[in-house]
Amino acid sequence: MRCIVTGAAGFVGSSISDALLEAGHEVVGIDCFIDYYPREMKERNLENARSHDKFQFVEQNLLGADLDSLLEGADWIFHQAAQAGVRASWGGSFSIYTDNNILATQMLLEAAKGERAAKTLKKFVYASSSSVYGSAEILPTTEKVLPCPVSPYGVSKLAAEHLVGLYDKEFDVPTVSLRYFTVFGPRQRPDMAFHRFIKAGILDEPITVYGDGEQSRDFTFIDDIVKANIRAAEVESRGEVLNIGGGSRVTLNQTISVIEDVLGKKLVVDRRERQHGDARHTGADTSRAKSVLDFAPKYPLEKGLSAEADWLETAVLSSTTGK
Ligand SMILES: NC(=O)c1ccc[n+]([C@@H]2O[C@H](COP(=O)([O-])OP(=O)(O)OC[C@H]3O[C@@H](n4cnc5c(N)ncnc54)[C@H](O)[C@@H]3O)[C@@H](O)[C@H]2O)c1
Repeated sequence: MRCIVTGAAGFVGSSISDALLEAGHEVVGIDCFIDYYPREMKERNLENARSHDKFQFVEQNLLGADLDSLLEGADWIFHQAAQAGVRASWGGSFSIYTDNNILATQMLLEAAKGERAAKTLKKFVYASSSSVYGSAEILPTTEKVLPCPVSPYGVSKLAAEHLVGLYDKEFDVPTVSLRYFTVFGPRQRPDMAFHRFIKAGILDEPITVYGDGEQSRDFTFIDDIVKANIRAAEVESRGEVLNIGGGSRVTLNQTISVIEDVLGKKLVVDRRERQHGDARHTGADTSRAKSVLDFAPKYPLEKGLSAEADWLETAVLSSTTGK
């Protein structure tokens, strides 16, 4: 298959690209290295894919790219590009979220519709988010629960998800939206809690926890997210919105104990006030993904955290020793 992966230098996009290449597919990866975190980390994410002759990397912003020619001959599109991050989405930076999350998605859908959707394109998979639910009152949450985001980021992901659904219904673009619940593992973004906690632990620095630490999340290991994406592309079903979660809900305080076990040392915790936009709890009911994709999460938290710690040991040590 000829696959387009947007956000291909990021955490999830680079992991999907690697798996597609491993399975023998051709991948066109698009990314513009937005400066939310260092380019150096994204370049490292791309190293494996760049060594494949079936990988082509295009450094371009979706907002200014010639999408028509980039999508030429595409069978599957995995749309991962976005401005991530809940806390930074308030205030003046909101336009970065509307541009990269809503407008860029609309432009990609425009390029996918018409002749392309009718003849070549087999699936458009969109990376949605559990943040569309906000602090859902029903846990675990099914896709039938009315979305009610508590952050501007969540609003932007939901708006784009609605666009994806509209282009499926109105213009016959075959889509699936996957609502990821907090993704972790090797290559996790440096602003995310596990990355910050493990790195601080390795360097013997204190960690910052916002709120009382009793907020809970359904953490999903990256390999499960990658598998769900590829299944979503392979299956006939379309027009679906599916939760992709890790299978259990854990509080932040509990995850700190697991990280302490993995690292074999105690973490020094600096507690600060809850941040605006942080959902209290998230938990996925994944029965719909089980029936449509035959999806079941495979990686328990401890195993996934060990893999992330191994990766960070290498990344942190190599950046501090300059190797
Ligand atoms: N990581 C999570 O826990 C999580 C949870 C829910 C949903 N998601 C969604 O999954 C997707 C991937 O997230 P991630 O954690 O890998 O983030 P990431 O920041 O590591 O990757 C996103 C990539 O998209 C690129 N990008 C952004 N706007 C672009 C544009 N206009 N043109 C070209 N490239 C652009 C960025 O440069 C970045 O490399 C995002 O859509 C995010 O909203 C992630």
